[in-house]
Amino acid sequence: MRHLLSAEGLDADTATGVLDTADALKRTLFGREVRKLPTLRGRTVVTMFYENSTRTRVSFEVAGKWMSADVINVSASGSSTSKGESLRDTALTLSAAGADCVIVRHPASGAAHRLAGWLDEAGTQVVNAGDGMHEHPTQALLDAATLRERLGEVAGRRIAIVGDLLHSRVARSNVHLLRTLGAQVVLVAPPTLTPSGVQDWGAEISHELDPVLAGVDAVMLLRVQAERMHGGFFPSQREYSIAYGMNEARLGMLPEHAVVLHPGPMLRGMEIAPDVADSPRAAVTEQVRNGVHVRMAVLYHLLAGEEMAA
Ligand code: CP
Repeated sequence: MRHLLSAEGLDADTATGVLDTADALKRTLFGREVRKLPTLRGRTVVTMFYENSTRTRVSFEVAGKWMSADVINVSASGSSTSKGESLRDTALTLSAAGADCVIVRHPASGAAHRLAGWLDEAGTQVVNAGDGMHEHPTQALLDAATLRERLGEVAGRRIAIVGDLLHSRVARSNVHLLRTLGAQVVLVAPPTLTPSGVQDWGAEISHELDPVLAGVDAVMLLRVQAERMHGGFFPSQREYSIAYGMNEARLGMLPEHAVVLHPGPMLRGMEIAPDVADSPRAAVTEQVRNGVHVRMAVLYHLLAGEEMAA
């Protein structure tokens, strides 16, 4: 396979290879004034974002530029999509215009797979930067890179994923990748934000956070995705914060070595107390920093010759 479409399709060797490359890139570039490698000179990377993004879009652009690729950003509002052009026609246009790799974020689950089907023959590679409620594989990879840095290794660790499981592509990708890398996963969510079929995800499930905390090495908080809750917000923000918000008291229930992650954007005061978000126990800034090196590694494995399972 020549694309990165899901964490589900990544085997342990491929995922570890990407994480090792990211680690090596981080060590190579650390402390350099000019963080530019010639590796992807002459290659063209297009980011095609049909949903808003800060971290993913910027870090893919930085990653491409640090590897000397030409990076072009396309968004739905500024492109001919706003005139009614289909996703397929837009993708084929970008490929015909010279894109070697298209990085796509789209509100529809499965959009990245469709794109890969249309572009495969033309030799344009596709990276899924988040498709609907399905997957966000580079987020899971950067989370794993951060866990490796903080905890030494992922295998054998017990990780809690807490929050809006129902709408979260981050949760789905993380469950796949963490299990592939040998971690145990416990999912914590209110019943209203727990998807049906979650018992098939291969993780433990709890609707209460406090009893879980003493036994985990990391807590990954999820954003509550109000924009996908067309029927209203339940539980209320206050109820959510009381039952599931990561605050100082809950930080005290964790083992001393345990780390708190959040993919961002964070809803401070609801999912995470400001003091916790800014504490050394939280790895939110490191996650963003690692996102650049992980996305460099993904582009390297896809565009610089090494094949990648999707
Ligand atoms: N974590 C994440 O995907 O953030 P953005 O939506 O800002 O890219």
